[in-house]
Amino acid sequence: MKAMLLVFAAAGVLAAGVGYAQSGTDVVKSKCAACHEADKKKVGPSFKESAAKYKGDKGAQAKVVEKLKEGKGHPKVAASDDELKAAVKQALSTK
Ligand code: HEC
Repeated sequence: MKAMLLVFAAAGVLAAGVGYAQSGTDVVKSKCAACHEADKKKVGPSFKESAAKYKGDKGAQAKVVEKLKEGKGHPKVAASDDELKAAVKQALSTK
């Protein structure tokens, strides 16, 4: 019984760890929210607006990640590739 509990606890920790690394929501909160909101224009366009603009564009995520990484046509955002990918994915799926 004790062993089972340990396995469940370990699995819980793992799941939480993975979820955190992939969560665009957390990155958006810490790295994007100063300039963006989901459905209101702030410093930059609302994520809803950008999602609509790139709707159906399969290369959009890569394109926007590149912009944010290089600071071309977008203020440069200091974040890892994975963080940017997750955040942009989150932004472009805003409805
Ligand atoms: C310092 C302010 C600032 C921060 C921080 C910021 N943005 Fe932006 N963002 C802007 C501005 C200004 C624009 C409008 C310029 C443009 O046309 O790309 C923009 C545009 C965008 C667009 C639309 C790009 C396009 O091609 O239409 C997306 C998507 C976007 N930002 C996502 C993000 C994400 C995701 C983050 C966080 C990782 C982020 N931004 C952080 C200011 C910011």
